[in-house]
Amino acid sequence: MMDANPTVRRPGRVGVLISGRGSNLQALLDVARADRLGGEIVVVISNVPGAPGLEKARGAGVEALVLDHRGRPREQHEAELGALLQARGVDLVCLAGFMRRLSPGFVAAFRGRLLNVHPSLLPAFPGTQAQRQALEYGAKLSGATVHLVDEGLDSGPILLQEAVLVREDDTPESLASRILEAEHRIYPRAVRLMLEGRCRVDGRRVRITEAA
Ligand code: GRF
Repeated sequence: MMDANPTVRRPGRVGVLISGRGSNLQALLDVARADRLGGEIVVVISNVPGAPGLEKARGAGVEALVLDHRGRPREQHEAELGALLQARGVDLVCLAGFMRRLSPGFVAAFRGRLLNVHPSLLPAFPGTQAQRQALEYGAKLSGATVHLVDEGLDSGPILLQEAVLVREDDTPESLASRILEAEHRIYPRAVRLMLEGRCRVDGRRVRITEAA
């Protein structure tokens, strides 16, 4: 099994997995372009052909690939995904609106190097439609979470969170759009912390050390 705290080479090489719009990808690309990500985004892979995020990657001069999950068994799809990432020497894999559960084999291969962004304050409201779940539950506070991926559903150790107040007149869409702004702030910061080697997993807690 891989170490929970693998060493990241510098400058780190990042792969991003998407399924759709790619606004979190864009936030990462913008910060990388400003040279504030602490590494380079070297490949973007979508499991959905025509995902708008692919054009965002190409627009930034980043290799953009499609690996359709349809028509092949899950294990084969994930093996090919893993091989594409390994071949590019990726140190860190960011799920950014990647709408597929990854099986334990893939998670183990990238343990400690696989991040996800989720639109709630985990552990509240894991899974799909987290913003609608928060509203329907009557939560007064929700937000965004960046976490390491483990074998569970949105259950890995938490790196960063940002809270967003729920307004009386919120709809799932209006809440989602404010949470998305928070996602765009914390995801690049979390990636940078990882690439700078400042995150240490200690059980469920991720200890963040001061900058050198
Ligand atoms: C984000 O809200 C993310 O938290 C969730 O899916 C959405 C993806 O949006 N997992 P985008 O593709 O990054 O714009």
